Amino acid sequence: MEIENVDGDKQAGHHLKQRVKYKIMNLVIEEDKIYIPRDPDCHKCGDTIIMHRDVTLYENACADLIAKENGNILEIGFGLGISADRIQTHNPAKHVIIEINEDIYKKAIDWAKDKSNVEVILGDWKEVISEITDKFDGVYNDADNDANEDLVAFSDMVLPKCNDGCKLIQTTWGVKNPLYKKRDTYSRITLDEDTKYWYGSDTLDIIYFTLTNNNWV
Ligand SMILES: C[S@@+](CC[C@H](N)C(=O)[O-])C[C@H]1O[C@@H](n2cnc3c(N)ncnc32)[C@H](O)[C@@H]1O
Repeated sequence: MEIENVDGDKQAGHHLKQRVKYKIMNLVIEEDKIYIPRDPDCHKCGDTIIMHRDVTLYENACADLIAKENGNILEIGFGLGISADRIQTHNPAKHVIIEINEDIYKKAIDWAKDKSNVEVILGDWKEVISEITDKFDGVYNDADNDANEDLVAFSDMVLPKCNDGCKLIQTTWGVKNPLYKKRDTYSRITLDEDTKYWYGSDTLDIIYFTLTNNNWV
C-alpha cells in the first residue's frame, strides 16, 4: 500500500499519522468519513481514516478564522466539505478550492453546483497554485499529508496570491517551519466530546498568521 510514515506537527488529531498517495488512492467516501479500507491480508489492520465528521468543531473554527464577508478565500482540500460549508456562511466574494483526489473533486463539483462564487480546481496545490490569478483574504490549507518541505514552502508560495491582512491557517505547518516555531498568534478552542476523541485533549490552539507588509506575522 502507498503509505509512508510522517513526523509532523499536526494540530489536528483527525489526520493521518502516515503519508498517503491521495491522488491515486481508492478512497471510500461516506457521509461521515473518508477512509482507505483495511488491507484484507493484514489481520491487525483497520481502516485508515482520512477525514471524519467528528472534527466539525475544528473545521468550523478554522473556517471562521480565515473567512470574511466579501473576501476571497482559498481552501486546499475539500474532504467532506465541512469547512467549505462554513466558509460559505460568511458570504465570500469568491471561494476557490483545490482538491487532488478525483472522487472528492467530483463531490466538490456537485456541492458547488448552486454556488456562483465557488471555483473548484482538480490538482495538487503545488502544481496548480502558480496558475491562480485571484488574490485572497483568507487561506486554509487542510491538505495535511504533503512532504515536510512542501508544508514549509506553502506560506511563501501562497504569499504572492494574498492581499495585505490575509489570514493563513495550515493544519500541518511542517517541522522546522520558522512560522510554526513562532506560533504566538492562535485561537484556543474548547473541544466537544467528538473532537476530544481525535485530539486527546480538552483544548486546541489553532495557529494563524496575518499578512502584514508582505510578511506573515
Ligand atoms: C483532511 S481533508 C480536508 C477536510 C476538509 N477541510 C473538511 O472540512 O471536510 C484533506 C483533503 O485534502 C486533499 N489533499 C491532500 N493533499 C492535497 C494536495 N497536495 N493538493 C490538493 N488537495 C490535497 C485530500 O484529498 C482531502 O480531500
